[in-house]
Amino acid sequence: MAQPRGQWSGKLGFILAAAGSAVGLGNLWKFPYITYDNQGGAFVLVYIGAVALVGLPIMIAEITIGRRTQRSPVGAFRILMAGRSGGWFWSGLGFLGVSAGFVILSYYTVVAGWTLRYTWMALSGQLRELAAQSGALDAYFGSYVANGGAQVLGTGIFMTLTIGAVYFGVRSGIERVAKVLMPVLLLILFSLAIYASTTAGFGEAMTFLFRPNFSELTSQSVLEALGHAFFTLSLGMGAIITYGSYMNKKCSVPVAALQIAALDTVIAILACVVMFSIIFSFDMEVSKSAGILFTTLPAVFFQLDGGGIIAAAFFILVAFAALTSTISLLEVVSSYAIDELAWSRRQAAMTMGAAIFVFGVLNALSLGANDWLTDLNLLGASHAGLFNSLDYLASNWMLPVGGLFIALFAGWMMSSKDTWAEVSQGHDGSAAWYPAWRFLIRFVAPVAVGAIIFSIIFLGMEYQ
Ligand code: PFF
Repeated sequence: MAQPRGQWSGKLGFILAAAGSAVGLGNLWKFPYITYDNQGGAFVLVYIGAVALVGLPIMIAEITIGRRTQRSPVGAFRILMAGRSGGWFWSGLGFLGVSAGFVILSYYTVVAGWTLRYTWMALSGQLRELAAQSGALDAYFGSYVANGGAQVLGTGIFMTLTIGAVYFGVRSGIERVAKVLMPVLLLILFSLAIYASTTAGFGEAMTFLFRPNFSELTSQSVLEALGHAFFTLSLGMGAIITYGSYMNKKCSVPVAALQIAALDTVIAILACVVMFSIIFSFDMEVSKSAGILFTTLPAVFFQLDGGGIIAAAFFILVAFAALTSTISLLEVVSSYAIDELAWSRRQAAMTMGAAIFVFGVLNALSLGANDWLTDLNLLGASHAGLFNSLDYLASNWMLPVGGLFIALFAGWMMSSKDTWAEVSQGHDGSAAWYPAWRFLIRFVAPVAVGAIIFSIIFLGMEYQ
């Protein structure tokens, strides 16, 4: 039986939900460490360029496709291709997006589970004890990720919270959660930023982030910036198509896209300001990748006055950001079952959530708990373990390929008249942006994303 399709209550509901999807571990965990690895300044600038010239146009395209068809990706492409040849190919693209949601959610919930554990450790005082002994935080983190029971528990709790929100639907679940968590997240982050500005390392952090030194920029960094723009804005897999399909026609598509992209960027940069100010205040050795959030930062928190509160606030912030992102990932998969297989929302949320959790368990056990899963090497030496293989597959292949074809679809398969008919609804402001968007989506975005894919295939490059 057809069920009435959900809709956001209004503009704010959409913006907060979509910004909730965009702002996540990508902003608070990945962005700071890739910025650190790429020496700050010039990388930040290139990243902002990638968001503006590629991310923003594709976000406008995704919202347009979703709102025009009122469907999640598979159905959206089918409707737009009705009566034309090649529809199967584009529906296949929608299906790639749904699969990417499945894959990403299965490992994303594992890391999200860590944030719950660290929030608890900060509140209970255990983190303070570890921080007091040199090397203890590193040792703890190593043994924690290899502890199968703890990993599965964290993943399971996080998945349950995610299912809970999707189960209650667009307005009473997803939007309601975003409306509470996003303002709290902003409040915590702004408070931490104000605090960071009083620390000794603030000046050095600002120089690191905002004084570009282009001689340190490599082509690898440019690709990493571009690739990260997709992940952080939730683009390339139809999450924004799905959220756009619940948007009403009174909202302006370009204005909403601009606000979401700007909020996501500001939050990523503020997170860097907070982290680097604190880290530079103590001249800490920064450990790579996951370490920055779970080992380096806790060590410095406790050298500050009120370290316990700062640490707890920080991990709650990351957990909230992760939750609004996992919700959007599950929504993409569930809305496929709702739109295409006529499942009820409750059935879709629970069944899909449970199926993804099964893979989540495998990922959770692939960080040391189970030898076979930890050594499993599907894609090459540097991606040992199921978790790393899937992250590599999603970030290097599924999202860029999805993004490339979404750009090509909006730019070349949809007529200018068609896209204009959609984006002009609800937009009262000037139309001067439209030709610029058409140019970016037809030429700039495909060439830039094509360059990422080319370099991965032919030059062996990778981004995180
Ligand atoms: N944008 C999220 C982050 O930065 O953590 C990750 C993500 C969420 C990617 C939802 C894709 C998606 F559909």
